[in-house]
Amino acid sequence: MSNFKADPQEPLQKSVFVRSEGDEWFDRNRIALAESSPLRDSLVERIAQHLPHGGTTASQVLEIGCGQGGNLNGLSSVREIRGSGIDPSGRAVSSGAAAFPHLELCVGTADALPYGDGSQDMVWFGFCLYLVDRSLLQRVVAEADRVLRDGGLLVVVDFDPLVPCKREYHHKAGLYSYKMDYARLFLANPAYSLVEKYSTSHTTGAWTQDPQERVALTICYKNMDLAYQPV
Ligand SMILES: C[S@@+](CC[C@H](N)C(=O)[O-])C[C@H]1O[C@@H](n2cnc3c(N)ncnc32)[C@H](O)[C@@H]1O
Repeated sequence: MSNFKADPQEPLQKSVFVRSEGDEWFDRNRIALAESSPLRDSLVERIAQHLPHGGTTASQVLEIGCGQGGNLNGLSSVREIRGSGIDPSGRAVSSGAAAFPHLELCVGTADALPYGDGSQDMVWFGFCLYLVDRSLLQRVVAEADRVLRDGGLLVVVDFDPLVPCKREYHHKAGLYSYKMDYARLFLANPAYSLVEKYSTSHTTGAWTQDPQERVALTICYKNMDLAYQPV
């Protein structure tokens, strides 16, 4: 544990990740991130199926919580994309910028996205929502909705428990991993509809009976025209 002193003005988890834990997470996982990952490959493959292939226009894809951009790089090898990523870790972003110069990576957090309204064809939460302060969660949803164009796809990769739950975060005292079905926050809005939900696990790469081990990829479609039926 470090002697990190939180700024009481800032939401705790964001502050810790921006100042130290983003970099420390990256350092702890640097080797694993460089190796091939069947889970990552299967998620990228499923996401790719929902993007056009072989056309002349590249899809604009944003991964939030991108780390060094390995997911985006995998997607860019099978689909024509302009990949952008944002992560609080300066070290992950510098490393990714050197390794994957075709991606546009920047340091930042999910609650304040430096992208224009409707600028993204796909917004992908890359396993980071469980780390967001609860006080920022609705702002994070609003930011993703703001930057995703009408007709675009919203992708959530995160834990998939049966009911919302929290667990102490292993690496920093006072922080929590918050597990819930985050896609529900978007699907509560009639502009979003479910395209696909794929449930798997970190460890076995297949669906598991243990809800605490479950990880889901959920893909939602945003369409304002279909949202409200005239009556
Ligand atoms: C479990 S890692 C996933 C990294 C990568 N997407 C992947 O799938 O390998 C979670 C990432 O979320 C980032 N993160 C933590 N808090 C965040 C926030 N508030 N906004 C955006 N990213 C955040 C961390 O720095 C870390 O890189």
